[in-house]
Amino acid sequence: MSIFRRSGGASAPLLQAEPDEARKARFDREEIAIARNPRGGIAEQFRQLRNSITALNPEGAPRTVVMASALRGEGKTVATINLGLAMSEVPGTRVLLVDADLHRPGLEGYLGLPRRQGLVEVIRGTCPIDRAIRATSVEGVSVLGPGELPKNPSELLGSDRVKMVLSSFKQRFKYILIDTPQAATISDASMLGALADGIVLVVKLGSTPRSLVEETYNRLESLGGNVLGTLLTGALPEEPTS
Ligand SMILES: Nc1ncnc2c1ncn2[C@@H]1O[C@H](COP(=O)(O)OP(=O)(O)O)[C@@H](O)[C@H]1O
Ligand SMILES: [Mg+2]
Repeated sequence: MSIFRRSGGASAPLLQAEPDEARKARFDREEIAIARNPRGGIAEQFRQLRNSITALNPEGAPRTVVMASALRGEGKTVATINLGLAMSEVPGTRVLLVDADLHRPGLEGYLGLPRRQGLVEVIRGTCPIDRAIRATSVEGVSVLGPGELPKNPSELLGSDRVKMVLSSFKQRFKYILIDTPQAATISDASMLGALADGIVLVVKLGSTPRSLVEETYNRLESLGGNVLGTLLTGALPEEPTS
């Protein structure tokens, strides 16, 4: 008998993160515009999105925001990180980045963090929430990875416990940004969007057909979600850092 599980290659079950391990998170990838080129146009675009979201929340109540897009590769995960960094620039703002893309997670990878127990175990109640959430090197920014990918993500994300988990996050953070899989073919973003306070629709300009964007917008709102706005990616040629 083996304790190892096969999924492509053999891999060990995920461990719980060590406290402070994510302080080593790296925000230095080219795409992380807020960190790499804080005065550039893309960074400014994320600050504007942050300002729009915070303007809708004048009393500063904790808010959950789902990051969605019609297709894969439109820039959701990168946008989740950039928006989180932009939010953390406002003094005293605590932000949690959650990877709820249980099909193709990317958050830990972008930040150079090891895969650890995360959202799945928190929903199942097998990992304490404060062990799964990890503070990073950026003041005010914490991350929660996806955890062990389940066979049926939609079933897990549709379970009653998710609502309770989201309110636990709200007791700890002002903004919770939830990364999701492509909404055109997977219902997870619509389901989570219905439980969240708002949805940001990420659209890759010149790539995703307009009709598909509209269809996705309607799909996200059809379960009760509230699309706060769209974020266009792939638009601005970034000027070099000076
Ligand atoms: N602002 C950006 N600047 C440069 N490249 C980007 C930017 N946003 C996303 N990308 C690139 O687009 C690809 C998809 O981004 P990602 O955030 O992983 O998409 P998704 O999560 O929607 O699947 C990645 O190769 C990423 O490096
Ligand atoms: Mg992604």
